Amino acid sequence: MLLHFDDEAKFAGSLAQASGLEPRQVHRHRFPDGELKLTLPVPLPSHTVVLRSLHHPNEKLVELVLLADAARALGVLHLTLVAPYLAYMRQDKAFHPGEAVSQTIIGRLLAERFDTVVTVDPHLHRISALEQAVPTRRSVALSAAPLIGAHFAARTTRPLLLGPDSESEQWVKAAAGAQLDCAVCSKQRSGDHDVHIELPAVALRGRHVILVDDVASTGGTLVECARLALAAGAERVDAAVTHALLDADAGARLTAAGIRELVSTDTVPHASNRIGVAGLIAGALK
Ligand code: R5P
Repeated sequence: MLLHFDDEAKFAGSLAQASGLEPRQVHRHRFPDGELKLTLPVPLPSHTVVLRSLHHPNEKLVELVLLADAARALGVLHLTLVAPYLAYMRQDKAFHPGEAVSQTIIGRLLAERFDTVVTVDPHLHRISALEQAVPTRRSVALSAAPLIGAHFAARTTRPLLLGPDSESEQWVKAAAGAQLDCAVCSKQRSGDHDVHIELPAVALRGRHVILVDDVASTGGTLVECARLALAAGAERVDAAVTHALLDADAGARLTAAGIRELVSTDTVPHASNRIGVAGLIAGALK
């Protein structure tokens, strides 16, 4: 059985179709004071899969605590969490004294409740494996990067995939594979909206540049990277991300910076979604 919430019915339908799991909705009631009550379908099978993509994560984490503990009370022995986007992975160390290391804390919260966690392109930077952040029985980190590479390989001629920072190297290389050119910039962040980027020593003049990253949030990283690439003579700049966490105004900012097209996967619902990951996740579940 695949448990899902009303706001993810579309992705749940795709995942159910690809995996053969039976989709059932968890009913959510919000009390006037804002607290939540969840009602799970009963009976539940001994192995139950929960779908929750963790963009806008704070309330969803409370939902997952309620849901997982209720499912255990109803006799579920093996709980799998499918979180196409896994939140709180970027704060992976205390950059200043007193900062909470969210990756460790949220990872442990999920690991204590789920036997298996499946996600797509988690932001793993200073660690190499998802189980270091989510120490559960089985943690599965899938990558949409090959799907992104295949999307552009089929539609463009000799593009150059460009990653905005050292973290993006893993995704850019996986997207490029052996057939596409790729390079990586260096980035320093001084605030939520302030990034300083330096281009790598490769010729961009006349090239079709595709910026590739795991996440776009404010869009500031893509905007700065596009500005530099165009100033260096790139003929066209597009962008591709796995998780489009962008707000409503970001599209206009990306267009104003000269980015012709933004492509994303459907891990987070967004107008730029072009690449479905339900098949990728279903393969892992099987
Ligand atoms: C950070 O290293 C991530 O990979 C992204 O580059 C970053 O989160 C993008 O954020 P923004 O769109 O706000 O610049």
